Amino acid sequence: MKISNRALSGPASGIRHMFELAKNYDNVVNLCIGEPGFGTPNNIIESACEALHQGHTKYTSNAGVLELRQALTEKLAKDNNIFVDPLKNIVVTTGAGEALMLSMLTLVNAGDEVIIPDPCWPNYYGHIGIAEGVAVPATSYEKDGFALTAEAIEKVITDKTKVLIINSPSNPTGAVIERDELLKIGALAKKYDFMIVSDEPYEKLIYDGNEHFSLGSVEDMKDYVITVNSFSKTYSMTGWRVGYAVGPESVIQPMVKLQENLSSCVNSAAQQACIEALSGPQSAVDEMVAEYKNRRDLLVNGINELPGFSCMAPKGAFYAFVNIQGLGVDSARAAEQILEEIQVVLTPGSAFGKAGEGYLRISFASSTEDIEEALKRLKKHFI
Ligand SMILES: Cc1ncc(COP(=O)(O)O)c(C=O)c1O
Repeated sequence: MKISNRALSGPASGIRHMFELAKNYDNVVNLCIGEPGFGTPNNIIESACEALHQGHTKYTSNAGVLELRQALTEKLAKDNNIFVDPLKNIVVTTGAGEALMLSMLTLVNAGDEVIIPDPCWPNYYGHIGIAEGVAVPATSYEKDGFALTAEAIEKVITDKTKVLIINSPSNPTGAVIERDELLKIGALAKKYDFMIVSDEPYEKLIYDGNEHFSLGSVEDMKDYVITVNSFSKTYSMTGWRVGYAVGPESVIQPMVKLQENLSSCVNSAAQQACIEALSGPQSAVDEMVAEYKNRRDLLVNGINELPGFSCMAPKGAFYAFVNIQGLGVDSARAAEQILEEIQVVLTPGSAFGKAGEGYLRISFASSTEDIEEALKRLKKHFI
């Protein structure tokens, strides 16, 4: 059977490659992971169990249950300064991943260009490829703390540019784009007439007094921005698969229509649990963020003691993007050697795009014990 070009065109995952290699070793410490090392808070789990017993076992509306969209409307007003109508401007999706996919399917025709940060979460290439768009990387640099700039974006704008994806705080670099720079980026969307998809699943994982700013909150950007977010990282709910997209009715409603054919709706009990996540106590989120900050500091200080390694403290998310240019090998080889020799799994920067070469992504979502053990092995090996 000849499979479709679409299925064939997906890029090979450098992250999966490391996971596959790691299966050949015992006693592996994995700092490759992109999901929280905490369980989902109990009040959320309990509300899902209750919801199942109460009969939340049926299809919901394509856009998501209204009560959840209403809770999201309040959250968006309070946290993001975004004011929307739950009946028109929100679609609940299977994670931010599906919200991004639906955005591409709604906005992109074959051959349209979509600008993405380089380095970036590699799934953007997949989403754009499935929509038959063309991914156009805009480079972010270590000298700017890896924050993508309007200047870098403007260099790659063409008359085929249809969408720009931004991601702050960033996976894989932890960079946070400052408000002023975001406003400059927004001005480009108006000047050249393209949409911005702002992927914000790490909005709460932000440290040292840095602030998250949603471009979708700017009054005259409302028609230009789709804000994408998720319950995965904030509430340690990766496996529940709930996210959402917020934006102009003219884009969100076609996404709702596509949702009917993709999955009909998001899991009903999981949507109920998300209402509890938003309306219940937020102390678990604060505790997780404080713990991530401790783990970040432990990791960054340890890494900076290693010859050939250097690393800025990331402002957000739970990834350190570590410069290994001093080692004299490319990032894929460096990650493989580290796995072979000391059984620590790290992700080569090249898995996130060309501009990631010369770096390794190290996740501090893992436990403190795993970070300590990895540092012990790295120090023994490299010092
Ligand atoms: C930048 C970024 N966007 C979106 C997602 C997707 O998150 P989810 O589909 O779990 O909501 C991830 C997951 O790692 C991510 O790192």
